[in-house]
Amino acid sequence: MTGNQMQSQAAPAPKMSGVLRVAILGCGTVGSRVARILQEDAATLAARSGTRLELVGIAVRDPEMPRGLPPSLFTAEPKALVDSADVVVELMGGIEPARTLILRALRRGSSVVTANRELLALDGPALFEQARRNDAELSFEAAVAGAIPITRTIRDSLSGDRITRVLATVDATANFVLDQMDATGASFEEALAHAQRLGYVTADPTADLGGRDAAANAALLATLAFHVPVRLHDVQYEGITDVNAEDVAAAKKSGMVIKLLAAAELMSIPGGGESARVSVRPTNLPREHPLAGVRGPSNAVFIEAENAGEIMLLGGGAGGRTAASAVMGDLIAAARRRRAPL
Ligand SMILES: NC(=O)c1ccc[n+]([C@@H]2O[C@H](COP(=O)([O-])OP(=O)(O)OC[C@H]3O[C@@H](n4cnc5c(N)ncnc54)[C@H](OP(=O)(O)O)[C@@H]3O)[C@@H](O)[C@H]2O)c1
Repeated sequence: MTGNQMQSQAAPAPKMSGVLRVAILGCGTVGSRVARILQEDAATLAARSGTRLELVGIAVRDPEMPRGLPPSLFTAEPKALVDSADVVVELMGGIEPARTLILRALRRGSSVVTANRELLALDGPALFEQARRNDAELSFEAAVAGAIPITRTIRDSLSGDRITRVLATVDATANFVLDQMDATGASFEEALAHAQRLGYVTADPTADLGGRDAAANAALLATLAFHVPVRLHDVQYEGITDVNAEDVAAAKKSGMVIKLLAAAELMSIPGGGESARVSVRPTNLPREHPLAGVRGPSNAVFIEAENAGEIMLLGGGAGGRTAASAVMGDLIAAARRRRAPL
């Protein structure tokens, strides 16, 4: 489909039939995987969702670039593509034009699936409010806690409970570095070099090592868990670059281990109401704590809920494959909710 074949004005979402029209914004590491799964596993996905998922187009900057998918799918006109879809899968990343396109889709009542942690942590409350106003759905499993299926656990399985605290190690790179220092007595620089050799460090590790990425995760976890808007700038954060071998050894001597811990607590506001207190910082944890045993490039989320008690989920870090899996889960869930008979 090309841009000029599509209407560019926002129109009501098409009436549902046995086909769900899926638009993907972005065809990089994650988007290209999602597009391939949609093309190659169409029969299985239809059986699981009860609806045929039709990929109607993929918006990219350069639609002429060969990408191993039918060239007719590509367009450089994302607005028109958004207006032609029931579900929009945003995998461009960045703030703009992703934010404007997501808002456009939500205003039409389309479902939106995104992996864009940066955008959600910056401006999530406005996007969630737009979704609520239009009775539309905004799903983001791929944006939080790497491979751990945490958003639906909190939104669905724990929706009848009251979560009071979330503790998490949500930066797999930082966890690997601290774990190496703890296990081998290595310095921060040595442990980081080891992580780099094993491919656990991105080209620019500032967001991981400086705590910003964990803080963005923490903001989303707190928003989900406590039903209050929390943005990145509400989170006090500090990274692991100042943790040295002596700190790690001293912690070890006193039966502790240092983790880059995201902590979110529900607080009562004097006079009524509730708010969230959220922080990320290197923290001494007793070795018996479930999060103390999280080894290597892993993430874990530890939830305390009034009735369910303590729950811990453990999984790998973020990557193209895990993100595509999470996006597909959100997409099928959206299809089931919007289902019409085949
Ligand atoms: N990669 C991972 O392991 C991972 C894991 C979890 C979450 N995520 C999140 O998933 C999202 C996508 O990440 P990614 O790694 O797949 O990104 P990526 O490889 O950089 O791909 C981005 C895609 O978006 C397109 N795009 C960017 N800006 C655009 C614009 N203004 N107009 C049209 N198309 C545009 C690009 O088009 P061109 O190809 O034409 O340049 C490209 O196809 C991000 O929010 C990221 O944080 C990624």
